[in-house]
Amino acid sequence: MNHRNSRYTLLIMLLLLACHTACIGQSKSTDKRFAQAQQQTRLMLREIEKAKHQEAGAVVSPRTLSASGELELVATKDWTSGFFPGSLWYLYEQSQDPFWLEKARAFTAPLEQEKVNGRTHDMGFKIYCSYGNGYRLTKDPHYRSVLIEAAETLATRFNPNVGAIRSWDHNADKWDFPVIIDNMMNLELLFAATRLTGDSAYYQIAVSHANKTLKNHFREDNSTYHVIGYDPANGQVLKKNTHQGYSHASAWARGQAWGLYGYTMCYRETGNKAYLWQAEKIAAYMLEHPNMPADLVPYWDYNAPRIPDEPRDVSAAAVMASALYELSTYSQRGSVYRAEADKVIRHLSESYTAPAGGAKGFILLHSTGSKPHNSEVDVPLSYADYYYLEALLRKQKLMNRHKLF
Ligand code: GLY
Repeated sequence: MNHRNSRYTLLIMLLLLACHTACIGQSKSTDKRFAQAQQQTRLMLREIEKAKHQEAGAVVSPRTLSASGELELVATKDWTSGFFPGSLWYLYEQSQDPFWLEKARAFTAPLEQEKVNGRTHDMGFKIYCSYGNGYRLTKDPHYRSVLIEAAETLATRFNPNVGAIRSWDHNADKWDFPVIIDNMMNLELLFAATRLTGDSAYYQIAVSHANKTLKNHFREDNSTYHVIGYDPANGQVLKKNTHQGYSHASAWARGQAWGLYGYTMCYRETGNKAYLWQAEKIAAYMLEHPNMPADLVPYWDYNAPRIPDEPRDVSAAAVMASALYELSTYSQRGSVYRAEADKVIRHLSESYTAPAGGAKGFILLHSTGSKPHNSEVDVPLSYADYYYLEALLRKQKLMNRHKLF
């Protein structure tokens, strides 16, 4: 070997060593984050037992903390009831510890009654996060049947004149047929139902809804409206509004994140490039927005009037990070998306986690539920924790060169 060659070999070896050390460092941080999540969730399990004794009625899952710091539990019909069971499934997936399996099963079971609740579009949030993860990890045939029945119920909300699923029944004075961007998240259950049954009807409903949303929800700059009000008789757009954002023309942070996640997932399920391009456009909107803070944890609305003196929304950051990891596996800009997702996770785990033994066992602080309603502002939320754990798992799979799906 001549002099130049040996220098070249040494350089390559040093580079490989540096990469290896960085990977070990990342893997250690991820393990530490999971350990912290497990510790907090064990505390949460104890807090739930205490809170259940004090609450009237059948409450099952934690949602947030009240202004006085009390743990707030919700009934199965609440849109957030599936996130805590889902988090338990993720802790089981990562640890393979039967303790988490038993807890995940126990917190999933009471949600079964929701499979016939046709009064809301939130079936995916409730049933796919709980039973969907449960079925993916256990192949329990009972979970399979719950998923199929739930998808059947969700499909009853599809209106062929509109070509979309009706999101809400409430606020009937404002909208006859409201469709919210969040509804994109519930399509995953329909895609799963077609895979499980071989019946393409669910798939077709999901695709129709995604196409209708693609057509009407997005503005020129690729930000999304929150609510589109349709005429149920002919599918005409009647209104373009917000409900949880700053204004009808603004970009509510979590809504943008639901859109990013929704179109990334729709691309996974269909291979339709239009969905991939939309996800990339939404990612660009968020990541390049002048009001996006350096730590990539957005304010509750990208156009909130008093930025930087506005609350952040950690839940939007967690949904965005999870979606970016998946998008990184499909897009030519994959390495950028993965690096940005890593950055979000680093900041969430360094600066937004609850102190050990605090916040009644929630993992993350500083989310915003609905600022205009002065509801759940700067609090922990069960869905922030759920998408954070999902993102951590995705990060770990990518580091280990495992497939995400
Ligand atoms: N889907 C309700 C929310 O994001 O607040």
